[in-house]
Amino acid sequence: MIEKISAIFKEKFNDDPLVVRSPGRVNIIGEHTDYNNGFVLPAAIDKAIYIAVSKRDDDKIDLHAVDFNEDYKSTLSTFERSELQWPNYVLGIVDQLQKKGYSLTGFNAVIDGDVPLGAGLSSSAAVECAAVFALNELFDLQLQKKEMVQMAQMAEHSFAGVKVGIMDMFASMFGKAEHAIKLDCQSLEYEYIPLHLGKVKIVLFNTNVKHSLASSEYNVRRHQCEQGVAWIKEHDTDVNSLRDVTMHQLNEYVLPKDELIYKRCKYVVEEIQRLQRACDSLQKDDIGSLGKKMFETHEGLSKEYEVSCKELDFLVNAVKNKEAVLGARMMGGGFGGCTINLVKEESIDELINEVRALYEPRMNLPLTAYVAQIENGTEILKSVG
Ligand code: GLA
Repeated sequence: MIEKISAIFKEKFNDDPLVVRSPGRVNIIGEHTDYNNGFVLPAAIDKAIYIAVSKRDDDKIDLHAVDFNEDYKSTLSTFERSELQWPNYVLGIVDQLQKKGYSLTGFNAVIDGDVPLGAGLSSSAAVECAAVFALNELFDLQLQKKEMVQMAQMAEHSFAGVKVGIMDMFASMFGKAEHAIKLDCQSLEYEYIPLHLGKVKIVLFNTNVKHSLASSEYNVRRHQCEQGVAWIKEHDTDVNSLRDVTMHQLNEYVLPKDELIYKRCKYVVEEIQRLQRACDSLQKDDIGSLGKKMFETHEGLSKEYEVSCKELDFLVNAVKNKEAVLGARMMGGGFGGCTINLVKEESIDELINEVRALYEPRMNLPLTAYVAQIENGTEILKSVG
């Protein structure tokens, strides 16, 4: 990949670039908890975005996306959100840097990668992390990784329009091979937890449903959680997010007001607790009990939080009673994308074939499967000069 992107860069810009890799992510458990100040347990994977960059002498921004074979050109003082969508992840970062007062010159960039798009593996967060990391290095801005993660999140809010939590960027930036990151989204403190899965692998089944509802419904869920917190806060001013809320408070103050909001909040409060128990299972190398909790998470996401879809439910149901599958659930924002499955190594090929044979004729969509390896986070692959 590094040779390929450098060659494309050379041909387009006749220059030797700095190259950065930033991975996609999986999330073992802890879904829709990040923007509620809870915990998440993501890990960076072996599918990544690559960005090659070099400085220019003027103030032009010249971008090229290999996948789409598209160019975007503007300047540091005139750029706006682009209809093309992909440039927004880079422009959002430039916007954040400029708002914080960092002075840049123009730059050239080529973006490539093998994170499947729209599959819920956070290709957009990977582009944002790659861009901020590359520009930090190129212009020697001396940013800390956590600052870069926060800028990437803000870039998504302002330039992509989705009020995402911090998980995806954090996982891409801080990933560590063979480890999950237990991240406290309130304090941003984190701990690496070794993924001792033994002869079990992480298998992703991509529904190939593009999550078109995802961004609007995502913002609605966020708002519903905030509403629940506001009702509780009328009685207990110490409560600032669902992280601080107990089931007792939900039953007392939210249930009588609105059953739907109650269901949403209940899922989140339970998921935050479930993650703690899942981490205990992982620390005891009890993958069976971790897997059971993943099935419970799916149930909550599907019935209470209502961010699943028929294709995701179908895939989870299809593996539910299989001896080779220890756990499965929909992953990420929802309404499409992938399921994450813990599968016994020796049965992976057979399982993929079986599930595909069931899924494709019923859903009339292709099923793509990946075995995810857990890799390091954002890194420089090639420095300039
Ligand atoms: C998307 C968002 C994340 C997180 C998940 C749900 O991936 O980008 O911040 O909220 O959905 O857990």
